[in-house]
Amino acid sequence: MKKINIAIDGPSGVGKSTIAKNIAKNLNYLFINTGLMYRAVAYFCIQNKIDLNDERKVINNLNKIILIMHPCEEVSLNNINITSHLWKDEISIFASKIASYKKVREFCVQKQQKFAIEKGVVMEGRDIGSVVIPNAELKIFLVANLEVRTARRMIQLEERKIPYDKDNVFNNIKKRDELDKNRENDPLIKMPDAIEIDTSNISIEEVIKKILLLVDERISNE
Ligand code: DC
Repeated sequence: MKKINIAIDGPSGVGKSTIAKNIAKNLNYLFINTGLMYRAVAYFCIQNKIDLNDERKVINNLNKIILIMHPCEEVSLNNINITSHLWKDEISIFASKIASYKKVREFCVQKQQKFAIEKGVVMEGRDIGSVVIPNAELKIFLVANLEVRTARRMIQLEERKIPYDKDNVFNNIKKRDELDKNRENDPLIKMPDAIEIDTSNISIEEVIKKILLLVDERISNE
């Protein structure tokens, strides 16, 4: 069976990782959550008391980071599995900050591109269809309104047993939208060849079904 690469982009809380994970499982493809890499860099800076607002300092420390992505959303940083620390809500805003730095993006993007050399990857993030795999056979751009995204993020935090405050979650998503869409380097944008799916009023299962149909279509056109 022919394999394709699938790029899934969209703002925070839109359901990207749940959807991408399910699609990958269904197709027996590799699933990569690229946000975890930016979260891991932010975590490294926090642990090492590097001022995240100081671009030069962050960049000068990138050579001290050995980042390995394992299957099923596991990440190790300098040989220590740090995954459980990365889901905290406060990490997300720091990740968004350091993700605006060009050199940080290059550092993460070159690792991500290695995963896409062989077809059969489902990768999700903000710039997958535009920068990481611009030749992906299928590009999906997910959107949903802010209230729905806040509710979904809260469910995710509950599932991971991470304490949260509803207003903080809401404001955090709003702030990240601004940062991710308006940054100079590789902002979140919908590519002209991406298919937009609004997930506000349809279930995640329906979205998965739609995408799987599109995958079938693309594979038979290959
Ligand atoms: O997908 P996430 O919420 O875990 O991502 C955390 C932050 O990382 C997000 O606010 C922006 C940044 N990010 C990015 O700039 N590019 C990506 N491909 C993935 C995430």
